Amino acid sequence: MKTPTYSEQTLQKKGFIPAQIPEGLDLKEEILRLKEERNAVLLAHYYQEDDIQDLADFLGDSLYLAQQAARVTADTIVFAGVHFMAETAKIINPSKTVLLPDLKAGCSLADSCPPSDFAAFKSKYPDAIVVTYINCSAEIKALSDIVCTSSNAVRVIESIPEQQPIIFAPDKNLGRYLQKKTGRDLILWEGSCIVHEAFSFDKVVQLFKEHPDAKFIAHPESESPILEIAHYIGSTSGLLKFVEEDSSKKFIIATEAGILHEMQKRCPDKILIPAPVEDDTCACSECAFMKLNTLEKLYTCLKYNAPQIQLDQALIEAAKKPIDRMLALG
Ligand code: 13P
Ligand code: SF4
Repeated sequence: MKTPTYSEQTLQKKGFIPAQIPEGLDLKEEILRLKEERNAVLLAHYYQEDDIQDLADFLGDSLYLAQQAARVTADTIVFAGVHFMAETAKIINPSKTVLLPDLKAGCSLADSCPPSDFAAFKSKYPDAIVVTYINCSAEIKALSDIVCTSSNAVRVIESIPEQQPIIFAPDKNLGRYLQKKTGRDLILWEGSCIVHEAFSFDKVVQLFKEHPDAKFIAHPESESPILEIAHYIGSTSGLLKFVEEDSSKKFIIATEAGILHEMQKRCPDKILIPAPVEDDTCACSECAFMKLNTLEKLYTCLKYNAPQIQLDQALIEAAKKPIDRMLALG
């Protein structure tokens, strides 16, 4: 029997609630079966829950997932990540159906840059080139000249002629890091990520005193004092590579805690310690947006072919240009 598919609107009208998942159903097996039936490819970010990471056809950082999305020939991309990532996949490969298990899986950084405010900000610097971090909406990408990720941000900035003024948005922490690394005077938008701003400098220093044999590594979305004491700064894939290749046996890691799953799989003998956060009472080093995707929602999105990322054709065309420029850099 052909599996029925419903539009997101129909599901909403129907007061869509995730399908009753039959008792005893092997969710992982069912996801793999539906994936096959739909001719779908599952892309997952390192911050997804462990089971989702293990089911992925491609697991990686933002740049790798964008590169893979561009290459998909299957009918459907299931994006286990946050909204801007799935949206980017749709922009890059618009003829594909792009599913996001939970459309509410947003991003505090993307939300910190509303398009109308950003357009007004941009208009104050008519001579500036706009470089945007991929963690932003399609509307912001459409206002940009070139997109970057944490993997290639330095390369992107260095590809721009020296005297050219540059606006960098939306992450002020990554922006400050880039200023230091490249010596360029960037015009920064004041956005940030709630997860990477939660790490406590004092507690990291204390933890390091307790583990002097450890290396401290951090994602560049972290605040400057944290980055100043890091032995290594890099994207999620950069952090993974560092842990794999460095001779140390112990690491304190300042990024979303989901990365520890793949890190520990690749380095079973190394001791991995998540960097402490300011507030002991919260799971602040977990991205609540990323964690909105669950195995159950992955199953229901494949079963109903919804929710899908829908974008206006004109927006796709405008947002694609700066992404293509980034992808062309390799
Ligand atoms: P990466 O591109 O390094 O995986 O970062 C994505 C992200 O959202 C970091 O918060
Ligand atoms: Fe956005 Fe921060 Fe979550 Fe990354 S960790 S998706 S930047 S809120």
